[in-house]
Amino acid sequence: MKVLVTGGAGFIGSHVVEKLIQENCQVVIVDNLSTGLMENIHKEANFIKMDIRSPELLELFLEEKFDYVIHLAAQTMVHKSLELPGYDCDVNVLGTVNLLEACRKTTVKRIVFSSTAAVYGDVTMLPVLETSPTVPTSFYGLSKLTCEKYLALYKKVYGLDYVVLRYANVYGERQGDGGEGGVISIFTRKIHQGEPVTIFGDGSQTRDFIYVGDIATANYQSLLTVHSGDIYNVSTQTEIDVNTLIDSMGKVSSKAVTKIYSQPRDGDIYKSSLSNAAAKQQLNWQPSMPLLDGLARTYQSLI
Ligand SMILES: NC(=O)c1ccc[n+]([C@@H]2O[C@H](COP(=O)([O-])OP(=O)(O)OC[C@H]3O[C@@H](n4cnc5c(N)ncnc54)[C@H](O)[C@@H]3O)[C@@H](O)[C@H]2O)c1
Repeated sequence: MKVLVTGGAGFIGSHVVEKLIQENCQVVIVDNLSTGLMENIHKEANFIKMDIRSPELLELFLEEKFDYVIHLAAQTMVHKSLELPGYDCDVNVLGTVNLLEACRKTTVKRIVFSSTAAVYGDVTMLPVLETSPTVPTSFYGLSKLTCEKYLALYKKVYGLDYVVLRYANVYGERQGDGGEGGVISIFTRKIHQGEPVTIFGDGSQTRDFIYVGDIATANYQSLLTVHSGDIYNVSTQTEIDVNTLIDSMGKVSSKAVTKIYSQPRDGDIYKSSLSNAAAKQQLNWQPSMPLLDGLARTYQSLI
């Protein structure tokens, strides 16, 4: 099958492409290299440097006749969305609508959309279910939630099939500092350079860290599932507090780590863990990478 991966030069996209190629898919990447890197592009994929907002996207779809689209290209930074909500909306919402137009006018059987835990905002009941209230606290969360709603209406109006994946905090090889799981790459560099790591608050805040290879598998499984028009959290459903995370990184790096505690940041979520029961059941998927092994791989690749 022929799959278009938008954002395939990025952190998660490059792992999705690798998985698809392992599964003998024919892969085309569309990426404008705004945060993605040429060195992340798989040599067996066909790379097209293009913006997802480009009017030429439809022409590409007509020529290439994709079976599936995995859509990862996005403005991914929460703080940037707060500084530049119009830019975030342009890339994430209008870019996605441009892509959906190309999908519904051509041969695309299904689109898999990369969404985020940021659509939930501050939730007190853990683990967060897909049915929990969605009250985003950033324009990034809002733009992703808006795209989810566009997908639902495209299915209703044009019959375009879709799967939404809401990722927890993703980490792994080729990770940059800016995205949602970027804290691990920031800590890695600090630990490697023997510098202290700064923790906002007392380090008891938790996150649900999921290895990028498990995200790639969830995307592949989303092409195969018979369940369509659904939303799935992709997570470990395990809370890791920041102190434990840093101690684990100390273990895998065999380095002594100095922690500095500073004021908690406004707007940071205190605890986070997403239920993954639906993805396990309906995508025939489960997270397979233990945290220490995933951290070791990440550490080795980033130093
Ligand atoms: N990293 C995480 O923890 C996390 C968590 C939840 C959701 N996500 C989502 O997963 C997806 C991938 O994120 P990532 O962490 O790999 O980020 P990334 O920045 O590494 O990848 C995004 C890719 O999209 C490309 N891109 C951006 N704007 C584009 C445009 N207008 N046209 C074409 N290409 C464009 C970039 O060049 C980059 O290669 C995003 O949709 C993000 O919102 C990531």
